[in-house]
Amino acid sequence: MSQIERIGVSLEPELLGAFDALIEKRGYPSRSEAIRDLIRRQIGEEKLGNPQATAVAAVFLVYNHHSTKLMAMLTGLQHSHLLQTISSLHIHLDHHDCLEVIVLRGSVGEINKTAENLISLKGVKLGRINLLAVETA
Ligand code: NI
Repeated sequence: MSQIERIGVSLEPELLGAFDALIEKRGYPSRSEAIRDLIRRQIGEEKLGNPQATAVAAVFLVYNHHSTKLMAMLTGLQHSHLLQTISSLHIHLDHHDCLEVIVLRGSVGEINKTAENLISLKGVKLGRINLLAVETA
């Protein structure tokens, strides 16, 4: 960030009051920081609508580890896809269930396709994907 430009924003008192309450609740140090964060978030959301945009994602899967077929398929899918699996994390939740967090990098379209393939595997009880739009070299 080489240069900062100042802008003026006009808001109704009620909207400003609600915004200040949100800033307080979330712990932002200033209105400027909160506004920057909101702008970045909206721009990121917009990018995620483009299947060609680059992104990173965390895919959360809860599954029963007794289905050994599923574990082999999970590993196979991570190896077979064109996009990069950056990392994965395995946590034994209880006697039966495991949590796998798989971090993917690639285009939004490829990530969503892979994540949907993972989540729809037989034996996966819960699945969720969290995407962030990022600029990568
Ligand atoms: Ni486990």
